[in-house]
Amino acid sequence: MEGPGAAPAPSGTAGGLAKFHVPEVVFGPHALAELGHCALRVGARRPFLVTDPGIVEAGWTAEAVGHLRLAGLRPVVFSDLTPNPKDHEITAAYEHYAESGGDVILAVGGGSCIDAAKGVAILSGNGGTILGFAGVDKVVQPIPPLVMAPSTSGTGADVSQFAVVTDTTRHTKITIISRTLVPDISVIDPRLLTTMPEELNAATGLDALTHAVEAYVSRAHNRLTDHHALHAAHLITSNLRGTTVQPKRAEPRIAMAQGALEAGMAFTNAILGITHAMSHQVGGLLDAPHGVLNGVLLPHAIRFNAAADPHRYVPLAAAVGIDVTGRPADEVADELASFIRTLADDVGVPRGLSDLGVTDADIPTLARTTLDDACLATNPREVDAEDVTTLFRQAL
Ligand SMILES: [Fe+2]
Repeated sequence: MEGPGAAPAPSGTAGGLAKFHVPEVVFGPHALAELGHCALRVGARRPFLVTDPGIVEAGWTAEAVGHLRLAGLRPVVFSDLTPNPKDHEITAAYEHYAESGGDVILAVGGGSCIDAAKGVAILSGNGGTILGFAGVDKVVQPIPPLVMAPSTSGTGADVSQFAVVTDTTRHTKITIISRTLVPDISVIDPRLLTTMPEELNAATGLDALTHAVEAYVSRAHNRLTDHHALHAAHLITSNLRGTTVQPKRAEPRIAMAQGALEAGMAFTNAILGITHAMSHQVGGLLDAPHGVLNGVLLPHAIRFNAAADPHRYVPLAAAVGIDVTGRPADEVADELASFIRTLADDVGVPRGLSDLGVTDADIPTLARTTLDDACLATNPREVDAEDVTTLFRQAL
């Protein structure tokens, strides 16, 4: 899969032992009809279904509940959630779960619903408060089984070992990374994607592309994650525009669902990088859409990382259709950054963070908290406070 100009794989990653941990996946139109059987397979009697008002309104919650009842289950529904799940919302959801005698935890919705469901599972198995689990492998006790049905394409939360929660006191987002958070089953029904608002489609599509790019260049990438990252980059860049032009057409939605899934499978194992480390901070400060922030930041991050070593961006550029034959890697990486910026323009993503409300005065705090983010450890280039400050200024 390596294209011209690609660097040899670093030892200990692509050349060494490979780890690959993903859920069971049920994929395809009408997969939601399998939700009841999936819940039964992991031991449900009284499943707790986390969803949100938009999904209820679109009719997916009622359909999911119908499938659960047909399987003989008595689900409890919790839908009191906002985008970017807040620490107090997870506390409230957990209290509802505990009072209702729920067992298996399900989510039907976007990354916010799925992360909130993971939060409920963490508190159920481990006690404490959700913010105490920030960082890597802090969730040590077993958690209830998780069955996730994503409604976007996508955050990858349905396959990943990540949960991101807003700390409403410090106005930042915390990242919880723990292998126990990989769901048991992901039920991916591309029909659900057709009711996404257009802005959410654009944002989550660019988030998935960011997962593919950051996973491919991550220090923790391996040959099993590389394949999925490259294929995801191809699927997403070939199909995202099509979903905006013909939102109800099945094929681009199926391709986007697969792209988001493969990007998720790549990044949950290879982890991420500086784009996510930075976007988490802005997302906590402004409650801005995660994928939009990534769409703004990713081209800047590619140029920053490529200035140290551009070679890993060459196969990514080839995967999205850029002609890389005989060209220097730094030139190809620069074109990849421009290509992604053009895609972001085409789907309506603002050109800078200032359009989203970030000001120069916010940058010192954002830069400081970025350095604490768990995603920074796998960025391919070493980063200090000055680098992050410069990047935020460039992206303003
Ligand atoms: Fe993301």
